[in-house]
Amino acid sequence: MSTAAGFDIADIPKQLFIGGKWVDGSSGERIAVIDPATEEQIAEIAAGTSADAIAACEAADKAQATWAATPPRTRSEILRNCFQALTDHADALANLITAEHGKPRADALGEITYAAEFFRWNAEETVRINGTIGTAPSGANKILVHHPPVGVVVMITPWNFPAAMITRKLAPALGAGNAVVIKPPRETPLTALRIGELLTEAGVPEGVINIVPTMSSGEWFDAAVSHRAVRMVSFTGSTEVGRHLLRTSADRVLKVVMELGGNAPFVVFGDADLDAAVEGAMIAKMRHSAQTCTAANRFFVESSIHDEFVERLGAAMAAVKVGNGFDPVVTCGPMINQSAIDNIGGLVSSAVAEGAKIVTGGASPGGTGFFYEPTVLAGVKSDAAITCEEIFGPVAPVISFDDTDTMIQAANDTEMGLIGYVYTSDLARGLSIAERIQAGMIGINRGAVSDPAAPFGGMKQSGLGREGASEGIYEFCETQYIAANW
Ligand code: SIN
Repeated sequence: MSTAAGFDIADIPKQLFIGGKWVDGSSGERIAVIDPATEEQIAEIAAGTSADAIAACEAADKAQATWAATPPRTRSEILRNCFQALTDHADALANLITAEHGKPRADALGEITYAAEFFRWNAEETVRINGTIGTAPSGANKILVHHPPVGVVVMITPWNFPAAMITRKLAPALGAGNAVVIKPPRETPLTALRIGELLTEAGVPEGVINIVPTMSSGEWFDAAVSHRAVRMVSFTGSTEVGRHLLRTSADRVLKVVMELGGNAPFVVFGDADLDAAVEGAMIAKMRHSAQTCTAANRFFVESSIHDEFVERLGAAMAAVKVGNGFDPVVTCGPMINQSAIDNIGGLVSSAVAEGAKIVTGGASPGGTGFFYEPTVLAGVKSDAAITCEEIFGPVAPVISFDDTDTMIQAANDTEMGLIGYVYTSDLARGLSIAERIQAGMIGINRGAVSDPAAPFGGMKQSGLGREGASEGIYEFCETQYIAANW
């Protein structure tokens, strides 16, 4: 089958990847992969069951000891080969992402660069997983601390970054010496399967990576985490699902890293460079078709510049070209499915019912494909329903403020704490506001912060643990202390 753009996906693997082999699922069930821009089925792949999840855990368990004992330099070089493999196949992988996710081709290519970089960064970290040695205060013994791999890791990844949300977990997990079982999302499994194939060609040994898409996520997960070899769960997705996975993981006291939902405040002070603030707002809101957990969800704008900001943001949003991501003029692709459109539409309607004014957009154009118009809402109340939920779509609610303390209180009046943005020409003010925003990441005069070399993660119900940076690889390690005399 091929997409409307003529991209041939016939050669992409469509089976489960277990123990280094491509196999059919034990139930014969299939997953239909839909292009959200055309609503056409572009492929059908094998769906895994609980039994397949267990088989994958068995395969990972078999591979675990040898991979953990593989010298760090060798693991590092394999990771460097993985970086090269993704880089060499960037164009084809970007096509695959646009075909199954819908994001504009340029964004898909950017995602592959970002995804590959996790391998390069972690190849460098793999040979620097260091411990410490000290002397007990009593002088009785030495205190040796080192960091062995945690063991088999189950990874559940989301559809919004079909490649990068896998590699952000996978690269450090492999670098630290763990074998993994991945459940890619049913919406975008093709990119995951192709990446599995490329990484195997790049030298990742049999059984170290296992990939099992499924239609029965709950049962799949329950089976996987009940396997005795599984020691850790790494999840990116909604807070609601994260809470469920945490409860299940608690039964076996598994280590967890959770990258959950966001509700990012984007604060613009009256002294900000307005051109830069609007440009940053467009990036923070619209990056990857507005379907990121880092997306600006609430725009707090000082009243002195509110009207001008709204006008300029409205013009920038109205100029966005919405359509099929393979069309080179398109800068915003479709939402992932109809239920996303319904959810966004419901939030916009409730904001309007609560007094907000639509500056631009405000509807789905209808017709084929899951599209929603880039929308700006002005006059939004800081406690309106739309400010309490992650929109995950191209809608920018703007809230005017006069008093900084009241604005900070409203910005923090959420259980989420992933990211915040501040625009001001006074860096001291920017830093002090950053310190007061309860979020794991802050952009000052920047609309994007993601970087493989930086610790990505949230405070409050936005998550536990960090991905990326040096912290990211230690998440996949244990800490062992040895008291020794000599
Ligand atoms: C996400 O939306 O989950 C990740 C966004 C990013 O890495 O920038």
